[in-house]
Amino acid sequence: MSIDEKTYGELREIAARYPEGRSGLLPMLHLVQSAEGRITPEGIEACAEILGITAAEVSGVATFYTMYKRKPVGDYHVGVCTNTLCAVMGGDAIFERLKGHLDVGNDETTDDGKITLEHVECNAACDYAPVMMVNWEFMDNMTPERAVEVVDDLREGRDVHSTRGPRVCTWREAERVLAGFPDDLADEGPAAGPASLVGLGIARERGWTAPGREAGGAPAPAIGRDQSAEQADTARAGTEEKIDESPADLQHDRNPAKGEDAQ
Ligand code: FES
Repeated sequence: MSIDEKTYGELREIAARYPEGRSGLLPMLHLVQSAEGRITPEGIEACAEILGITAAEVSGVATFYTMYKRKPVGDYHVGVCTNTLCAVMGGDAIFERLKGHLDVGNDETTDDGKITLEHVECNAACDYAPVMMVNWEFMDNMTPERAVEVVDDLREGRDVHSTRGPRVCTWREAERVLAGFPDDLADEGPAAGPASLVGLGIARERGWTAPGREAGGAPAPAIGRDQSAEQADTARAGTEEKIDESPADLQHDRNPAKGEDAQ
């Protein structure tokens, strides 16, 4: 069975957003997942046809990234971060508890088709470890008990809210957003938590700005690739010189956080 007409039209729409249509392949694959519940052979064919590349090339991308699924995903994808920091902070315990509670293994879906459980890699949310994701929305500072409550609420159809984002939608709806069709929920719920903003607060307090930008001023003018490489070489050479001359001076320059302002 081929992909439906509406989805085919939207796949073309995504490809048309890019100067090189092929650049749209990742969001196109998310749209296939939204429409089909997984990456299907028909979805692969449709992407290949629209982009003028082979099905093998599309398949190569779809099988490389773990966010693309070859088997059906449940209504809610629950990812438990079990990378080092989350693991030691309780991620392993959360995963084990959910595995037992849901009676599924890694990358498996419950019998009612509601929840797919998966180990996930670091979500750059380590300041709120252990972290769980529901359809890629953050659930911070999780505990095994809270994780069980979340999956039970999802299975019972009760509203679940991300700790740093909107109310949780279904996996297919989230895939549509990842394909570039907003659901207008982006402003619902808090966007960033206090722990993530601590560095920003300290920088403001001390008047630190990003390199190449004066406080309150315009950004540094854009430079070409050659100039940029030249600047990087000059900076590296300067650093190497400093190491040769005095490692203690260099240390002093590089630790403004300890009150040792660069001179
Ligand atoms: S280790 Fe879990 S979010 Fe970074």
